[in-house]
Amino acid sequence: MLGPLTLAVTLPFLPAANALVRDNDVGKLPALGWNTWNAFGCDIDSTKIITAANEVINRGLKDLGYEYINIDDCWSVKNTRDKSTNRMIPDPTKFPDGISGVAKEVHDLGLKIGIYSSAGEETCAHYPASLGYEAVDAQSFAEWGIDYLKYDNCGVPSNWTDEYTYCVPDGDGPYPDGTCPDLTNPAPEGYDWKTSNTYKRYAAMRDALLDVERTIFYSLCGWGQANVNSWGMEVGNSWRMSGDITVDWARIAQIANENSFYMDHVNFWGRADPDMLEVGNGDLTIEENRAHFALWAVMKSPLIIGTALDSIDDAHLAILKNKYLLDFNQDPVIGTPARPYKWGYNPDRTFDPVHPAEYWSGASSTLDGTVVLMLNSENVTSTRTATWREIPELKSHDAYQVVDAWTGKDLGCVKNKYKASLKSHDAAVLVVKEKC
Ligand SMILES: *[C@@H]1O[C@H](CO)[C@@H](O)[C@H](O)[C@H]1NC(C)=O
Ligand SMILES: *[C@@H]1O[C@H](CO)[C@@H](O)[C@H](O)[C@H]1NC(C)=O
Repeated sequence: MLGPLTLAVTLPFLPAANALVRDNDVGKLPALGWNTWNAFGCDIDSTKIITAANEVINRGLKDLGYEYINIDDCWSVKNTRDKSTNRMIPDPTKFPDGISGVAKEVHDLGLKIGIYSSAGEETCAHYPASLGYEAVDAQSFAEWGIDYLKYDNCGVPSNWTDEYTYCVPDGDGPYPDGTCPDLTNPAPEGYDWKTSNTYKRYAAMRDALLDVERTIFYSLCGWGQANVNSWGMEVGNSWRMSGDITVDWARIAQIANENSFYMDHVNFWGRADPDMLEVGNGDLTIEENRAHFALWAVMKSPLIIGTALDSIDDAHLAILKNKYLLDFNQDPVIGTPARPYKWGYNPDRTFDPVHPAEYWSGASSTLDGTVVLMLNSENVTSTRTATWREIPELKSHDAYQVVDAWTGKDLGCVKNKYKASLKSHDAAVLVVKEKC
């Protein structure tokens, strides 16, 4: 199906030369870390941050590269800024030693710390936000020792809204072909979204962050609006390509479907962000948990854990610690993500929020091979088959050495194809090595 979304992704994308290249490789690879929101919402304090930081170490996640401990919304005094300095004020009850105090503790553990604001007048939970205060807030964050900023899209005043609306096909849908037939005020053909107010709001904070003497990872959270996929790479180190994730498979599949069309935009320094992980939350099945993680990892998305780590169980923890998927995600040589080589349930390039692309592959320098992911998007057990001759990276030979990424089991020399019986919403992940 050739909807506008399909057309949009075939346009040439920004060369990596425009990427937001930072010191010390900050932002070069997808961010790995933890964030308060999916676990605790507004109910946060320094104890929860320090607990998470310690658990990232105790559970062996730090050793695997998870490094950012991120504070989301609700960390400041709600209705005011400091009258003399205009600075945001850390909530003295939640953070008795300020944000700088908790930052020091996190740094002493060898980890990095993130904070949250919005490109509007207030955050989503109605706390002060940074529109018009970019410089003063970036300065505060730098002085406090902040390493990462998630920058949300709430509280936008009427004179800062965009002239045109952009189709983000993940609202109340259905959007069967990725178009938004009822979009009010769409942009004229050829409109340059870099002239939009959304671009200006996000670029203003980028410029403020570049002006301070600290390298702060910049994570845009503009919900896919204003065609951020076309300019996210030059403004931030990652950009949200959709609205928020929720703890249900339908939403996870919907976001994976959308993001599958944006893989051309992903490379070193800039990642389309399908939102933070829900692994360990709600009543997702274990298959849904691991398919969610595997899809996010192969899309080279940021992997930001969103569950309480002091109570996580072993099965969920093992998913977050999958070495093969983390190695693929953190490849220092190959910046591009896996891509669908076949849709499977649907004809190729079909936009379907229920049945996203099921067959993905991508080359990996870290694994010295190719990762192949097969998803069963159906709600019943079903078989999926990886046929080497169909896979771009593997089509020149008939037999390969294969490892099952979930079990680490060596499957030996596999000829022609590998067939997996998958429970509903499960994903097989294969590491396909040298020919045999
Ligand atoms: C919106 O209004 C504020 C306050 O008057 C002003 O500072 C700002 O520049 C305006 N924004 C735009 C995009 O014109
Ligand atoms: C399972 O999928 C079928 C076919 O897409 C659909 O008709 C049915 O409603 C689904 N059942 C559940 C429980 O989601």
